[in-house]
Amino acid sequence: MDPLNLVPYLPRAEWSLGPGDQGWLTMLGQVLKEYQTCTRRRSLLRARVMDFVTSTAILPLLLGCVGVCSLFKLLQWLRTRACVRNAVVVITGATSGLGRECARVFHAAGAKLVLCGRNAEALEELTRELAASRATKVQTHKPYTVTFDLTDPGAIVGAAAEILQCFGYVDVLINNAGISYRGTIVDTNLDVDRRVMETNYFGPVALTKALLPSMIRRRQGHVVAISSIQGKISVPFRSAYAASKHATQAFFDCLRAEVERHDIEVTVVSPGYIQTSLSLNAVTADGSKYGVMDETTAQGRSPSQVARDVLAAVGKKKKDVVLADVAPSLAVYLRTLAPRLFFSLMASRARKEWKPKRC
Ligand SMILES: NC(=O)c1ccc[n+]([C@@H]2O[C@H](COP(=O)([O-])OP(=O)(O)OC[C@H]3O[C@@H](n4cnc5c(N)ncnc54)[C@H](OP(=O)(O)O)[C@@H]3O)[C@@H](O)[C@H]2O)c1
Repeated sequence: MDPLNLVPYLPRAEWSLGPGDQGWLTMLGQVLKEYQTCTRRRSLLRARVMDFVTSTAILPLLLGCVGVCSLFKLLQWLRTRACVRNAVVVITGATSGLGRECARVFHAAGAKLVLCGRNAEALEELTRELAASRATKVQTHKPYTVTFDLTDPGAIVGAAAEILQCFGYVDVLINNAGISYRGTIVDTNLDVDRRVMETNYFGPVALTKALLPSMIRRRQGHVVAISSIQGKISVPFRSAYAASKHATQAFFDCLRAEVERHDIEVTVVSPGYIQTSLSLNAVTADGSKYGVMDETTAQGRSPSQVARDVLAAVGKKKKDVVLADVAPSLAVYLRTLAPRLFFSLMASRARKEWKPKRC
């Protein structure tokens, strides 16, 4: 029995009622009936909606939408791969992490690679690995390697000449090499700040400047800067790193505007955490190696996924790409729209994370 059906319990006629009682009881009865009708209509509507959802029409429609989206994505992916087929792509920091994955992804897409790094042996090993990989249907090319240190301005000029000799020109320059840092500003030697700036900012700037004239002459080229979400927001105990990435963002934003008239593209990619050796290789306040795999880095995005995103950004000629989760992406907006809140969040983070000498 419906517990809400109170009609049967309404006073019967033989009961003795006062003259005023009949009126309000009838009204109560009507209200209850009305309520019942509404409930019945609602459950009927619910049943009809469920029928529609599970009907034979909606499922094929949904599957069709998913299929069209997947096909569209596949076509886009093939188109972006086609964009770099036979293109000369230079990758710095190819010996490890994201650079190594970019080498694999661009090689598989048919690019002619020039792999750069400090460790000649690691570069040769990667070259052998790429030569041995036959999983791709696209025609691949044997990469060249160029060894130099980005903190050595003299070496960069020579390296740029060597890079240009490989294929005669450069289509895409991926400034990927970089170094991270952990430390408190007050304890950090200025030499450490300079080293991080040399690697992450002056090195890529010098290499870009050395290769730019040849791109301008050909009216063709694409410069990519692998920055970081920390190029858009500063996080405590990463001062030198965040500063170098902010400088990178600013420089390549200027470059984009200046070389547009030469038909040269500039893309700044700002990833969040990636599962690489970046934190292991980071420098500390006294210049020693940090040597710790941070939990955030270990739980970051896979470098191969980020490398595919870099390829997609090049293929689609994107200007600025943020590859981060919701929280860091929101933090970027918070820094602009609610700076006071952002600063107090960072101060609270600094209080929590502060460890004397080692951060
Ligand atoms: N991992 C992350 O969470 C993350 C997040 C955002 C942005 N990024 C950026 O991604 C880029 C790649 O870093 P990764 O994560 O792949 O780190 P990684 O595994 O440590 O790789 C860094 C690469 O940079 C090279 N390098 C460092 N100092 C150099 C120098 N002075 N001259 C020439 N090459 C040098 C390293 O070469 P050696 O092998 O010779 O040391 C290595 O190949 C960096 O720009 C980094 O800032 C990383």
